[in-house]
Amino acid sequence: CGIVGYTGRQPAVPVILEGLRRLEYRGYDSAGICTMNGHGAEMLRCEGKLANLERLLTETPLGGTIGIGHTRWATHGRPSEKNAHPHRAGEVFVVHNGIIENHRELKEKLERLGHSFRSDTDTEVISHLIEHNMKLGSDFETAVRESLRELRGAYALCILCEGMPGTLIAARNGSPLVVGLGEREFLVASDIPALLSHTRRVVFLDDGEVALFCDGEASLTRIDGRPVAKEPTTIDWTPVMAEKGGFRHFMLKEIFEQPRAIADTIAGQVFEEEGAVFLDELKMTDDELAQVSRVVIVACGTSWHAGLVGKFLLEDLCRLPVEVEIASEYRYRNPVVGEESLVLAISQSGETADTLAALREAKLRGARTATICNVVGSSIAREAHGVIYTHAGPEIGVASTKAFVTQLAALHLLAIRLGRTVGTISREKGRELIGSLVKLPGLVEETLRIAPVVEAVARGCHHARDFLYLGRGSCYPVALEGALKLKEISYIHAEGYPAGEMKHGPIALIDEQMPVVVLAPRNAHYEKTISNMEEVIARGGRVIAVATEGDDTLVAKAEIMLEIPEAPPELLPILATVPLQLLAYHVAVLRGNDVDQPRNLAKSVTVE
Ligand code: G6P
Repeated sequence: CGIVGYTGRQPAVPVILEGLRRLEYRGYDSAGICTMNGHGAEMLRCEGKLANLERLLTETPLGGTIGIGHTRWATHGRPSEKNAHPHRAGEVFVVHNGIIENHRELKEKLERLGHSFRSDTDTEVISHLIEHNMKLGSDFETAVRESLRELRGAYALCILCEGMPGTLIAARNGSPLVVGLGEREFLVASDIPALLSHTRRVVFLDDGEVALFCDGEASLTRIDGRPVAKEPTTIDWTPVMAEKGGFRHFMLKEIFEQPRAIADTIAGQVFEEEGAVFLDELKMTDDELAQVSRVVIVACGTSWHAGLVGKFLLEDLCRLPVEVEIASEYRYRNPVVGEESLVLAISQSGETADTLAALREAKLRGARTATICNVVGSSIAREAHGVIYTHAGPEIGVASTKAFVTQLAALHLLAIRLGRTVGTISREKGRELIGSLVKLPGLVEETLRIAPVVEAVARGCHHARDFLYLGRGSCYPVALEGALKLKEISYIHAEGYPAGEMKHGPIALIDEQMPVVVLAPRNAHYEKTISNMEEVIARGGRVIAVATEGDDTLVAKAEIMLEIPEAPPELLPILATVPLQLLAYHVAVLRGNDVDQPRNLAKSVTVE
């Protein structure tokens, strides 16, 4: 989501709209704005892109020199006017980016106190909480501080109160927020591009900080009111550079966003002490889950690769048979599927025509359906019985990166929930699995440190004509994904193969020209994978090994080592994916290709 707040001497609406336009890359399924003027607060909200809000504003102009606005990427509650921000409770108006993890508890508490909720969002609890604290006698600022103390999770907030027409409060915890400093004029936004046409002097808020703007003055404090002193930073980026967060391409930015994306996908879904996973939106009771005797995964492209990794997870942890089908094949077969099956459609966009058709086919035949999807309110999310949302945020690069790793995180959540229900995962084991899963963002962060090494490796191999990617077990789908990434953006022919199957064909291709990427992290398949690697080396092949850090055996053998941190085996496919994404990216850049919009491809394929 993107948020913008403004207070100053200019009419607020044009400033906020321009800011939101610059943030539309962060989400665009609904939008809203609220300003305050002599008549009190006025608010407009609508579903769809910002253009719809602009149209509304031409019919109903809003005056005032203070206001807040929002462009939404749904996380809780489908895109609709009622779920669009700002969210109002009495005099209080809130725009929010992030996820409030304890929103269920807070909502229950507030409902008991007589508050009635109008939206399905987690955000609405914030406005009600502030209203509640004001009713108990606190002034606006104090009520905000009291409320922030009760929130768990991530937020960037801009808040207005009708009774305080000169005041704007902003706060940050976990979601980005930056303040732009003008002449007795201030802007607040989720990201720098929204500010750049007004000012280049900015202050980045840190977690736990509150900025208060009142009648031309600004103050920065901690939640408890202690003042914070900060020097402004001067930004010299162009607006386009800023949208990409200073990265050269969206794809690279999205690769680096993966730790955050995974953390958001897990946030609020796990109860570590109990070894339990929630997944409320899956809408399946424990009894219903216990009746599942088979899982069928349908998907296309990168999402299909996620499904292949999911098969390993679900079979291993839940002892249930899992089939993974390419959606375009599945829909035209006469598939054997019925009530005993859970059919899981995996789709970033939720709009892929083949995946949607496969889901419908399974539904017609009586299967229980669910989806792992990144876009709230998309066709697949609407039609499946239940949903697990990935919180990757909008993925702009056509080659999927952060969506893939969040799909894998979501599959972990599903495997734990299912395994706990069918009894294959004990409470103790559940705790252990969740314990590792919550460490995953940090491990991905660590893995990303290899980026400069990968860039150097790319320089040595970007002229190659073909690449072979080999992996065993759950690293076989990673080999497929690595090869697909390279094909998609570098236009180099690449094949992913199960390492043990290489000797039955692809071995004939090996020569000194062809880089062979071998996925050999330390897991149960390690020894066997090394044997396959030896077969490649014996035939003069050039091996790029993705291996666990400190693996001396491999250092001696492979021409190049790309190291990933040591981790529990079920997390290795995610970590091993990261260097392959970076390799594809740097090879494509060196070849001068359009990385974010590669030829002939589309982000979401809504035709058969
Ligand atoms: C297109 C994209 C791929 C994506 C596939 C499935 O081909 O280029 O990156 O993996 O569609 O998309 P979905 O949105 O269903 O995950």
